[in-house]
Amino acid sequence: MFSEFLNKIICGKSEELLKKIPNNSIHLVITSPPYFGCRIYGNETLGRESHPLEYVQKMLSFTLDIKRILHSEGSFYLNIGDVYFGTKGFSRNKGNYSRKTDQHYQEHLIVKPDGKYLQYKQLLMLPERIAIGMQEQGYILRNKIIWEKPNPLPSHSPDRRYPVYEYIFHFVKSQKYFFDLEIAKKLNNHRDIYKINIESFKEHQASYPVSLIKPLILTTSKKNDIVLDPFSGSGTTAVASILTNRNFIGFEVNENYCKMANKRISETILSVQNQLLPNEF
Ligand SMILES: C[S@@+](CC[C@H](N)C(=O)[O-])C[C@H]1O[C@@H](n2cnc3c(N)ncnc32)[C@H](O)[C@@H]1O
Repeated sequence: MFSEFLNKIICGKSEELLKKIPNNSIHLVITSPPYFGCRIYGNETLGRESHPLEYVQKMLSFTLDIKRILHSEGSFYLNIGDVYFGTKGFSRNKGNYSRKTDQHYQEHLIVKPDGKYLQYKQLLMLPERIAIGMQEQGYILRNKIIWEKPNPLPSHSPDRRYPVYEYIFHFVKSQKYFFDLEIAKKLNNHRDIYKINIESFKEHQASYPVSLIKPLILTTSKKNDIVLDPFSGSGTTAVASILTNRNFIGFEVNENYCKMANKRISETILSVQNQLLPNEF
């Protein structure tokens, strides 16, 4: 079927690779797509649209593709952050991976404020807009998990509060879906707020922590199920899948990240084989 995709990170655009996955075949999708206007991962990648609503449209085309391939008892976790209109960002890192470069800022200046939705300082509510669009596509929203970060990225605004959380939306396709309540209770993972530090993996500055992803996998999939991350980055979802005895598929457009993630995966498998890392359940 799609065995050539299994248990590795495939380098390419998820929009194109998803077409090769059959309907209703994936048990679990966990991903964090590029946020609007935050980082430069390459030319013409998601998140570089000039207008925020163009980003929402592209995301909704992506979520429709996921709905097609998601198993009827499956779950789709979408981790996504928000952004302010016209915010001049800052460069924490040099080069291609810098956050909110001047180049990026220039791209966004193409869209002028309209005095309504598009006003400077406006928090754009992009996660909520995407989530509402997904409900209109027929998805059922089960939880709006708050990922609270005790070590958030610096924020320099003198006239608003410091953002310290992001959403992880838990969507399903049908009312009868797989959820292991016993494991959720056993893991102390039955509440909708997770307080977990940000951890970046090597030069990938936007990775999420393995400890955030493992309980999602354990509660909403079974051993040997397939977990897909269409925006794999450094391969965190794949690592969490190995540690929980699941199969995985990863897509990633940036060649350097693909290499980094595949190396990280091989090292994880070796550590598990040598019992240096535990794999659970
Ligand atoms: C927020 S990061 C994901 C980080 C990941 N969760 C981790 O823990 O490392 C988003 C990733 O999506 C990739 N990307 C952007 N557009 C893409 C596309 N069209 N297809 C596949 N990957 C894409 C970027 O290169 C980036 O690595």
